[in-house]
Amino acid sequence: MNISQELAESIRAAGQEHLLRFWNDITEDEQRAFAAQLEKIDFSILPGLIRDYVLNRPRTAIPDDLGPAPYFPAVPRNDAERSLYARAEKEGRELLRAGRVCCLTVAGGQGTRLGFDGPKGTYPIGPVTGRTLFEYFAQNIIRAGWKFGHPLSWYIMTSSLNHAATTDFFRKNGWFGLKEEQVFFFTQGTMPAFGYDGKLLLASKNALSLSPDGHGGTLLALRKSGALDRMKKEGTDIISYFQVDNPLVHVVDPLFIGMHALEGAEMSAVMLSKTGPFEKLGNFCVSGGRLQIIEYSDLPQELAEKRNADGSLAFVAGSPAIHLIRRDFVEQLTASGSLRLPWHRADKKIPHIDDAGNPVVPAEPNGVKLESFIFDALPLAKKTMVMEFDRREVFAPTKNKTGVDSVESCRQMLVDRDAARLEGAGVKIPRKADGTPDALIEISPLEVLDAEDARTLAASRNIVIGPGAEVVL
Ligand code: UTP
Repeated sequence: MNISQELAESIRAAGQEHLLRFWNDITEDEQRAFAAQLEKIDFSILPGLIRDYVLNRPRTAIPDDLGPAPYFPAVPRNDAERSLYARAEKEGRELLRAGRVCCLTVAGGQGTRLGFDGPKGTYPIGPVTGRTLFEYFAQNIIRAGWKFGHPLSWYIMTSSLNHAATTDFFRKNGWFGLKEEQVFFFTQGTMPAFGYDGKLLLASKNALSLSPDGHGGTLLALRKSGALDRMKKEGTDIISYFQVDNPLVHVVDPLFIGMHALEGAEMSAVMLSKTGPFEKLGNFCVSGGRLQIIEYSDLPQELAEKRNADGSLAFVAGSPAIHLIRRDFVEQLTASGSLRLPWHRADKKIPHIDDAGNPVVPAEPNGVKLESFIFDALPLAKKTMVMEFDRREVFAPTKNKTGVDSVESCRQMLVDRDAARLEGAGVKIPRKADGTPDALIEISPLEVLDAEDARTLAASRNIVIGPGAEVVL
């Protein structure tokens, strides 16, 4: 078959004729599938993207008035704050009981750093049982539904690259005890990958190399998939957003939810106090009265190191990518059926075929992927709210196999939190000389959502943990 005149012309105008180099070598079925893939690409925007993001490195403009963002501290500082936090917690519980909150996990990423063959959510992270990331969330979601008196719907964003594997995994595992209709999968968009010369890379003779368009793609995907309409129908108007690689997250947190509601925020964010000026977390900043996140790599050194009079970091607020988002905010942002968040460039190792059609698996980054980020919606919100949490309670990202933000550190933090909760409930925890627990402990997320649940668990059983023990509760 011949490719349509119009498509051929737009490919040529964008300087991407090489894409059709193997057209006559592939079967007619392959031609049809490839043409359908090419039809989905907006070739008219490519020259601008290539100029601004591939051939040149975009620089994030740092506004002159950039300052640190205000936030509610983890521990209230005075009576007024104590009573506000108590009201917020009550409000959050009421919203949960009324079924006004749903969960949203972004699981469309490729997890290249982890180097695991399969969707990241299927990774066995449990320190003793090997319970998967998806199972952690599912069981916590079930527990939260029981505890707060209303089952929670769970929206999971996949990409076309991992959708089938993800949904199969849920089917095989009986939705981890959730009702099938409680879980709604939706798929994000993709972007073609670029070689450093600005040419789109081919994954094979008849397919582009595509990658998910970043977690910023969530907002539009929520609309296009019908998820927003579904939320409206079920009466949920607050979305509790978290990433698939963080099993420590509170899938819903009544205090955070209540504060978001009392503040009338359209989008809220959890913040952690950074461990140092250059910790690799996005920085919460304000400019022109709007909240924004500046990536760690973009914050100028003098701002990163700036100190307050008491010696504390001025830009202390780091983002663990945990948000509350009002459904009507997403509805407004995507009302036209499109949403243009800024693109971010990522240099990646991108497998592809070369000009002769031979597969190439690069050892070094060889091209650029463009992604949009969910936090770029923050400055679009009229009202936002940032609240500090103790990182040991909410953040253990699984990005790498070993080292920083790894499977190892995540498992250790899961054990640490379970141990601390049990200790808080009066259970004796054997500890090593460095203070870490001298036992591997894993509490079922189906039983324990928070410290209160841990106290109930400890009161109901005689829990004895010996040095070096492996304990599953
Ligand atoms: P990361 O930025 O860690 O990316 O995603 P990643 O693709 O998972 O991992 P690397 O960089 O290739 O190693 C943070 C969160 O955002 C989700 C991921 O699934 C993860 O939960 N995400 C990321 C998406 O859902 N879609 C995307 O396009 C990118």
